[in-house]
Amino acid sequence: MTERLAANSAGLSRAAELLRSGGLVAFGTETVYGLGADATDPLAVARIFEAKNRPRFNPLISHFADAAHAFEHVVADDRARALAARFWPGPLTLVLPRRANGWICDLAAAGLPTAAVRVPAQDSTLALLGAVDRPVAAPSANLSGAVSPSDADHVLDGLEGRIAAVLDTGPCRIGVESTVLDLSGPSAVLLRPGGITVEDIEAVIGPVGQSVGSDEPDAPVGPGMLKSHYAPGLPVRLDASDVAVDEALLAFGAPLSGARLVWNLSAAGRLDEAAARLFAGLRVLDREGAALGLRGIAVQPVPDGGLGAAIRDRLSRAAAPRPGSGSGSGGASDLS
Ligand code: TXA
Ligand code: MG
Repeated sequence: MTERLAANSAGLSRAAELLRSGGLVAFGTETVYGLGADATDPLAVARIFEAKNRPRFNPLISHFADAAHAFEHVVADDRARALAARFWPGPLTLVLPRRANGWICDLAAAGLPTAAVRVPAQDSTLALLGAVDRPVAAPSANLSGAVSPSDADHVLDGLEGRIAAVLDTGPCRIGVESTVLDLSGPSAVLLRPGGITVEDIEAVIGPVGQSVGSDEPDAPVGPGMLKSHYAPGLPVRLDASDVAVDEALLAFGAPLSGARLVWNLSAAGRLDEAAARLFAGLRVLDREGAALGLRGIAVQPVPDGGLGAAIRDRLSRAAAPRPGSGSGSGGASDLS
């Protein structure tokens, strides 16, 4: 049963309490309703993908009450500060390098070195974000593939019973998603058109480039996007039923025996726990495996249902052949 909360002080404190304890709470913004979770808690973020039935781990936008809080977690340069001063609160999302001491978890950022941040223009939601006092990850609050919701009824149509609560902040003023602008490199790149136009942005920071490829979060990700995802240096072997002496093991359930280095995604065989531990596991096995002189990562089978689809999708990307990696015997170039 999903709670429907009014945007008054009782509703706001209930919504904040649910978010702070790992629950999923949908809330209105000026663009569309977002499905919020504590972006510092990978298990809470895993539940977003589960509730939406999203078949892959797209990076999510973290929402904040103001720019100062956002910029505690990402590195803002002069361009970012000027745009934030001009357009926040408002329908502009900035992609910026994550700070080493920031709290946005790997799953929310899909393992990328960057994170997307925004301050939405919705007073009750800003009060909620202030009360939560943590980054709040929120994709649109609809089932994967369905249209984005612009009122609380739309949210419940798709997600009733799948989320803890919806904070009813009324209909969304704009109804299309925010503009996403990548400022992580030397030139600004538009990743998704939205509520703020390129002309508006260019008036503040000068020329903006256009990205190629789809901006739709649920669209198939082309091979060109692989480079933007964390890819382990060690080759990855999927659906392993044994493990070689020179392989690290990414286990699921009861681990295969014989590996010197093991990261268990979930000893209990839980998919939400496995999703929450996936990016950290790849990183640790990659780093420590290379230090131990291991030559690859064997991955035990992960079942396909529910979150398993997203986990398997991510693992198959990690295992995909990479440009420039020869299939020669040593594979030492993969370590560089
Ligand atoms: O208006 C909005 O932006 C709504 C409301 C709820 O804030 N949220 C939303 O989230 O549309 P979502 O998850 O549907 O879209 C997030 C977009 C995707 O296109 C995603 O690829 C991009 O932001 N994105 C997020 N993090 C990124 C990153 N680190 N690098 C590049 N793109 C990123
Ligand atoms: Mg969406």
